Order: sequence, then C-alpha cells, then structure tokens
Amino acid sequence: MDSILVRGGSELNGQIPIAGAKNACLPLMPATLLSEEPLTLTNAPRLSDIRTMTELLQSLGAEITSLQDGHVLAMSCHGDINTHADYDIVRKMRASNLVLGPLLAREGHAEVSLPGGCAIGARPMDIHTDGLTQMGAEIDLRDGYLHAKAQGGRLKGAVIDFPFASVGATENIMLAATLAKGTTVINNAAREPEIIDLARCLRAMGAHIDGDGTSTIAIEGVDRLHGATHPVVADRIELGTYMLAPAICGGEVELLGGKLELVGAFCEKLDAAGIEVTETARGLKVKRRNGRVSAVDVTTEPFPGFPTDLQAQMMALLCTADGTSVLEEKIFENRFMHAPELIRMGAKIDVQGGQATVTGVEKLKGAPVMATDLRASVSLILAGLAAEGETKVSRVYHLDRGYEHVVAKLRGVGANIERIKES
Ligand code: EPZ
Repeated sequence: MDSILVRGGSELNGQIPIAGAKNACLPLMPATLLSEEPLTLTNAPRLSDIRTMTELLQSLGAEITSLQDGHVLAMSCHGDINTHADYDIVRKMRASNLVLGPLLAREGHAEVSLPGGCAIGARPMDIHTDGLTQMGAEIDLRDGYLHAKAQGGRLKGAVIDFPFASVGATENIMLAATLAKGTTVINNAAREPEIIDLARCLRAMGAHIDGDGTSTIAIEGVDRLHGATHPVVADRIELGTYMLAPAICGGEVELLGGKLELVGAFCEKLDAAGIEVTETARGLKVKRRNGRVSAVDVTTEPFPGFPTDLQAQMMALLCTADGTSVLEEKIFENRFMHAPELIRMGAKIDVQGGQATVTGVEKLKGAPVMATDLRASVSLILAGLAAEGETKVSRVYHLDRGYEHVVAKLRGVGANIERIKES
C-alpha cells in the first residue's frame, strides 16, 4: 500500500486543472444499459471507481473501451445481458447499485447484490427500492441480493415522494423511468449538478425529462433510447478540495474549469472565513484575504447546501482558523474519522455524535496519519501542506478512488509532496 509524504510550509501558486466528476460519471455509465446503440462519455476522470464500474458493466455484457488515457469511455450494450450484479464487484463500490434501475428498465428483472455498508455509514437502499416498487417492481432480499422483477415485464410510471433527497435514489429512478410505460414524477428529488448532468445525457439519448435541478423531476417513459456522446460535468468536489489548498497554505491558485454555480454554498463559507474567490476566463482564482482565516460554522445539507463531500476538507482548514468552528454532519452517520488523525497533528477537535467543535490552533505539526475514506484522505493531505514538518499519509488507495494525479496537481503549484511505494 502506497503512502504520500507531505512537507508543509510552501505557499502555492499557479493553475490546477479540474477533471470530470466521479459522481457524475458513475451514474452516467449505467445509462449504456438503456440502449443498444453506443454511448460515449468524454472528459471522464481516470479513477479506480470508474474502473470498478467498468468491470461491473462488462460483467453484465457491456462492451467498454477506455480511450485517451481513460478520459473517453466508448460503451455499447447490444446482445444478451447478464442481469446478475455480483457481490465481489458490488461490495467494492456502493455506486454499483446504480445498475438496478437500468437493468429493470431494459430486461424487466435484475439480481443486484446489496453493496453493504462502508466506513462513513450503513448506506441503506430503502428509498431506491421503495421507488422502484411503486413503479411496479417486486423486490425481494435473498442471500444478500436484491431480486427484482417488473410485473408484466415493464415498469410503469408513478408519483414517488422521497422521504429524503437521496442522490443515488434520484439517479436510479430517473434511469429506470426513461423506459417505463407512462410518466414518473419524483418529489423531493436531489438537486445536485450530477443529477442535471445525467438528465442532459439521457435527453441526448432521447429521454423526456423535465425539472432536473429542482425538487420535482418528471420523466415521460419512451419505448427506446438511442446512442449519444456526452461530456462529463466538472467535478465540484475536486474543485472545492483544491480551492482549499491556497486557503490553507497561502498563495494564489487558479482552478481551470471551475464554475461558481458548482460550489455556491461552499464559496459563501470560504468568503466568511476570509478567502477571496474570483471568476476568471478559465475558471476560479482563490487566495486568502489576510494572514489567518476566521472560524466559521458549517452544516452539511443536500445541494444547494454545503456538500458533505467537502466537510472533511473544510475541517482541515478550520483547524488553524482564528476562533472556534462547529461542523455539523447531517448526511452520514459516521463521517468524522479524519478528526482523530487531525488531532494527531495537534488539532483541537471535540466530536460529539454528528457535531465536531474545532478550536483553531496557530499551526499543525506533521505526523504519520492514516486515511480512512476517500475524502478524509485528501483532508489529511491538505492539513499536511500547511503543517510544520513532515506528514506521511498511509492507505492512499482511498485517494485513488476519487482524485486523479493528486501529487502532480499539487506539485504543479509548488507543494512539497511525493508518493512513496510501500511494501
Ligand atoms: C452520493 O452518494 C455520492 N456518491 C456521495 O459521495 C455523496 O456523499 C452523497 O451522494 C451525498 O451527497 C455518488 O454519487 C457515487 P444519498 P449516495 O443517497 O447516493 C441515506 C464521495 O465521497 N439513504 O444522497 O449514496 C444514506 O444512508 C461519496 O464521493 C437512505 O437512508 O447518497 C445517507 O445517510 C461519498 N436510504 C443519506 O441518505 C436510501 O435508500 C445520503 O445518501 C439512500 C440513502
């Protein structure tokens, strides 16, 4: 397992290119199951999660060719489809559950392993399965697999009220509803930019979808979808992550491809902390207004609120803020595992259930720390960039799930960082 070595203290200056969004590409890929014609995704990120989804779709019968160093995915799905999504692949990545809706839509039945929990939470699928059941699917859980069957062979439109604006459930129902008989309305739908991107791609394939980006999405089912070529939207979580690098270290960094509309609530908090964000012709430029950032309170919410996927990274910034910040994690039940690691670096953090109180210190001190999940891993790297001395982050395979070329991107703006192979 590799580690990443960070020596803190350098100011960061220059440009960082933002890749295509992992959390857009993962629901876009299963859309290939909805058509016999080719679906090509451009601006795809080269990540281990994308490789896992590729492996899963190929096991179902999709042909997928990765081109241009993994940034173009040429997919097609004609001929026989295997509707059994195996536990050995699904357990590696929860987003594997996004094949359930498309398989039901295309084949009328599916056997998809439950993904199981992960470090940040139990990750149940009740909102997904309740919605599909309202569309006429019979779903039984047997030996860890969801055995699903569309009554009469085809799903039917339904009005579905979500108890929570679940991103994955919104995506699964949207994918399933494109080929259902009749119209499906999702109330309290997720509003993330990745939902809008999925709707754009499905419309390019001939789907009839309205309201994406609002809380009410209507999908009028059609009999078939055709192929398309679709550019994956920029990754707002990667964008927010790298915006924090100059915020934590000082200097000025331009994030190429960054758009304010992707990070609205996050930028409001950066502004309150004393970070200046300026739109440029090529993206967003970020720098600290003065020496030390100010403490701010953060509560994670569904989009357009503050993203849970940026909570760990924001905590790294607030560890050295002037004052005390309260972070409330309202999306996942166990998403403060980076806190004990930051405490090893001298941070003052008190975690009580879903709330973390961070009392800012002048400087963190480098230390050996361990990545526990994807966003925690990058939060530790950000903390190490500004800490005194050397920080060694172990188990960086978590990082490879969601960040392409993180060492190269940070070295490119002056960070003293390297990846070391461990036995
Ligand atoms: C997506 O996960 C993202 N993953 C997550 O990013 C992100 O943190 C999350 O949305 C919230 O924004 C992908 O897009 C691949 P949810 P998802 O369904 O769809 C509960 C990362 O770091 N829930 O909105 O699984 C659930 O337990 C990852 O890139 C149910 O109770 O998120 C959680 O507490 C981490 N029942 C909350 O809702 C359900 O049926 C949010 O889940 C579904 C969800």
